[in-house]
Amino acid sequence: EKGGYDHFMMKEIYEQPRSIRDCMRGRIYPERGIVQLGGIKEYTEKLKNIDRIIIVACGTSWHAGLVGEYLIEEYARVPVEVEYASEFRYRNPIISEKDLVIAISQSGETADTMAAIELAKEKGATIFGICNVVGASIPRITHAGVYTHAGPEIGVASTKAFTAQVTALTLMAFYIAQQRGTITQGKLIEYLTELNEIPDLIEKALQANDQIKEIAATYKDSNNCLFLGRGSSFPVALEGALKLKEISYIHAEGYPAAEMKHGPIALIDAEMPVVFIATKNSSHEKVVSNIQEVKARGGKVIAIVTEGDTIIKGMAEHVIEIPQTGEAFVPLLATIPLQLLSYHIAVMRGCNVDQPRNLAKSVTVE
Ligand code: F6R
Repeated sequence: EKGGYDHFMMKEIYEQPRSIRDCMRGRIYPERGIVQLGGIKEYTEKLKNIDRIIIVACGTSWHAGLVGEYLIEEYARVPVEVEYASEFRYRNPIISEKDLVIAISQSGETADTMAAIELAKEKGATIFGICNVVGASIPRITHAGVYTHAGPEIGVASTKAFTAQVTALTLMAFYIAQQRGTITQGKLIEYLTELNEIPDLIEKALQANDQIKEIAATYKDSNNCLFLGRGSSFPVALEGALKLKEISYIHAEGYPAAEMKHGPIALIDAEMPVVFIATKNSSHEKVVSNIQEVKARGGKVIAIVTEGDTIIKGMAEHVIEIPQTGEAFVPLLATIPLQLLSYHIAVMRGCNVDQPRNLAKSVTVE
């Protein structure tokens, strides 16, 4: 049942090339630059007239929502707010019929997310769901939606469900952009072609497993760990930190790299591993200077870099390469080494990675 792996989590990490392919199947036509999302087709006209998108979710799904915010704002040019469902529902949020709410949930049963949906529905908003479990409660109370098709996720810590959520949000961002005319056909051809290659690139990213296992052995006894990234890699940092804390019980925090100097830098000493998502993109130089700041204080740097990056190699203790891809798709690749790192650290600490203490796969309590 674990497909030859020691844990469901590892099996599910390795399933990601397949789960992402399943999420995209029948939905993208790269040669023609077309995205089709049957589940929200009826709302195509509506999408042309929305003023704002509010994403509601919890935990890892909320992190996927933050990646979605970057993608939707960048390509569809609609303002996006990302809210913890548990906060949103207890405020008196300002919502109108011109708002689209996107609820993200792997299980489709999270109580706070359901309550947020009901509240937004009462106020007249259109609600889309992004869920993994077919026929769960959330898909039944939303107006329309997109299934992630990642397949059953058994490990309590979300892995393949997260990358499938990010994939579904990417498709949704392009779909909305296509409807609203904020993206050219030529660009869509280019982006969809890149997106279509992501499963193969994840396959390549997984080849760093042995190297990551060695790095894990070096840091398994750490008490704290910091994860830093900029832009759409900031939510990846948050997700990396959540994964580490939930399965290894090491205290970890994710921060936008530039925020480090406003506080967390005080924590850095020779005992502190700092994981940077430092891929080649528009903010590469800035991240390089953030790495220098950590190095100057004796911190140990583990950097996730783009294949062939020589600048960071000379600075970081450890460099984990991921293949080159378009900026929009970096979160899908950069997440992989972070999942593997948490997994190996947790196993080496003797933790029950598939069933971490105090956690449940679906949180149906408020
Ligand atoms: C983390 C994790 C949780 C869930 C959260 C929301 O690995 O699994 O943080 O992401 O409880 O669950 P869903 O997506 O089922 O609404």
